[in-house]
Amino acid sequence: MTPAATTSAQSPDAAACTFAPVGLLAELTHRCPLQCPYCSNPLALEGVAGELPTETWLDVLAQAADLGVLQLHLSGGEPTVRRGLEQIVARAAKVGLYSNLITAGVLLTRERLDKLAEHGLDHVQISIQAADAANADRIAHYRNGHAKKLEAASWVRALGLPLTVNAPIHRQNIDGLPGIIDLAVSLGAQRLEVAHVQYYGWALQNRQALMPTRHQVLRSAELVAAARERLKGILVIDFVVPDYYARRPKPCMGGWGRGIVNVTPSGKVLPCHAAETIPGLAFDNVRDKPLRDIWLKSDAFQAFRGTSWMREPCRSCEFREVDWGGCRCQAFAFAGDAALTDPACDKSALHAAFTQVAEGESELPAPELVFRNPRAAAQS
Ligand code: SF4
Ligand code: FES
Repeated sequence: MTPAATTSAQSPDAAACTFAPVGLLAELTHRCPLQCPYCSNPLALEGVAGELPTETWLDVLAQAADLGVLQLHLSGGEPTVRRGLEQIVARAAKVGLYSNLITAGVLLTRERLDKLAEHGLDHVQISIQAADAANADRIAHYRNGHAKKLEAASWVRALGLPLTVNAPIHRQNIDGLPGIIDLAVSLGAQRLEVAHVQYYGWALQNRQALMPTRHQVLRSAELVAAARERLKGILVIDFVVPDYYARRPKPCMGGWGRGIVNVTPSGKVLPCHAAETIPGLAFDNVRDKPLRDIWLKSDAFQAFRGTSWMREPCRSCEFREVDWGGCRCQAFAFAGDAALTDPACDKSALHAAFTQVAEGESELPAPELVFRNPRAAAQS
């Protein structure tokens, strides 16, 4: 029996859902010029023919605002490959959504960014792969991408828009973390996300090549703590610890069906961007149903909303409304059962095995990175 079938009909806290999501993650496309080896998008990407038309996105944004959503995260893939992006940004401004463009930056032009700002874009988030160009371009599998990103970041600041730098951290760049922090400061970013890679989607294919040692992770935490102190009032640093070395899981997505609603390029509505990795969940589509109905009532959202789906040890745990049992996708990826306690939790029977995987793989030589498309790196 699927997790959805076992839980949706019996979940009193789910049935009573009356709250709105804070954020809408709008995956406008899966098309992307980069080939990050830790990509969290599905193994099978949506083609351009299956993408929602701009008109549908405009309607979805109006529905989201009506539902109570406050923030719009424009993501992908690479959202700037979408022709209707200006209209989408304008609609967000019109309906009162705070818009955040999450971009690789390599396809942006100054003119495009100017136009997006004119249409009401509120915030830009640019990913970087490393502080040094050679390593960054190797990891992204994209020639001269790093230089393009730095240029795009300078345009963001010149326009007076707030900038977040997002730095996914792993074995291939973790020793360069001090340089990444310095780079974020020099770019004038207000916020830096130091986010240890999570292992689902394509990242699982490269786990051994990306897994840092426990020592490297502890060192990164010390570096972030010291930088936070040194850079008070200059740079806010968010730190996402790697689950494999954690004692407690993170409240993934702020809890399933609690804070974020994710719409895929083809219009499927997901409780988290990796939810399609869990077999047995059926996802409704904005082409067929109102967003409000899907958020409040759909089986996929009810499946793990609240606490009534939980088994022991979560069911009686004092942290069950703090971390909401951790990550469902990780429980499935590691244990084959999305309703189990996240193995990142040291109360999970699988925690020791989970940690051993990380310790074992991180001590082995790093294999070559596997890219989605093994062709030569794309040129900017
Ligand atoms: Fe969280 Fe469950 Fe672990 Fe308790 S047992 S800390 S609720 S994951
Ligand atoms: Fe799906 Fe954590 S990534 S619940």
